[in-house]
Amino acid sequence: MPVLIFLAVLDLERNDLFLDRHYLSRDLLGEAVRLNMRCAKMGFSLDKIVPWGRSFEEYVAMFSLTEDDLARSILGCGDGPAGFNAELARQGGSVTSIDPLYASSSSAIRRRIGATYDTVMRQMRTNRDDYIWSSIGSVAELGRIRMSAMHAFLADYDGGKREGRYIAGELPCLPCADKSFDIALSSHFLFLYSAHLSAQFHVRALVEMVRVASEVRVFPLLCLDGTPSPHVGDAVAALEERGFQSEIIAVPYEFQRGAHEMLRIIAA
Ligand SMILES: C[S@@+](CC[C@H](N)C(=O)[O-])C[C@H]1O[C@@H](n2cnc3c(N)ncnc32)[C@H](O)[C@@H]1O
Repeated sequence: MPVLIFLAVLDLERNDLFLDRHYLSRDLLGEAVRLNMRCAKMGFSLDKIVPWGRSFEEYVAMFSLTEDDLARSILGCGDGPAGFNAELARQGGSVTSIDPLYASSSSAIRRRIGATYDTVMRQMRTNRDDYIWSSIGSVAELGRIRMSAMHAFLADYDGGKREGRYIAGELPCLPCADKSFDIALSSHFLFLYSAHLSAQFHVRALVEMVRVASEVRVFPLLCLDGTPSPHVGDAVAALEERGFQSEIIAVPYEFQRGAHEMLRIIAA
């Protein structure tokens, strides 16, 4: 039986405290308990549940998605309230998102987004030097882009859920048949939370993603504090041992300073 637990996570818009509600398998319980203990030590308060999501255009850039890629069947792992699924579905693409957040109703997710907006914007202004303000010109523009993406998600969510495009689930155990997708994506979940999720968790999650898709792409490869994830090397080595090829590829996207590469894994 899944265990309901509140898991504190720091989002990319770092220094913001994000608390996501997770249904965790027994396998993940140890990770969650460790994280909660660490958060308690750091004095974080567990009083909010805050989702946050990026736009379709950001996904396309983060993962260097070509027109051919977008015509393939795509799985987003940990898409949360990102606008990627809504927009790609609108364009006629084949896209599915899996996230523990989708156990919640649209009204509950909407309330959580609304409740966090001011805090996120305030902290972005405080930490603006950690970001590159070229394609997104200002904190105000960032707010508009993020809210527009999340409104697109919210408008699509109930219908998308009925169509099976938004599925409640979690890594490292996806409710999908082997090779049911061409590409599996992870944006701002794997590697970003390297301080909270172990190397073993990352390897299991990536092996699971390669089980369900022919190709996996993960962005970014940095931790929340902007340092390179210590799990990338372990994950690449473990995947190679299992016969999967991987490469680190520069992408045409950099918002968090230094985050401009993705990991691409191909099933052998
Ligand atoms: C920082 S958000 C990123 C959302 C989106 N991918 C984006 O880049 O805009 C991280 C997401 O990971 C989801 N998540 C947390 N634990 C997960 C797990 N075990 N498997 C899949 N997704 C998970 C959270 O619910 C949240 O929506």
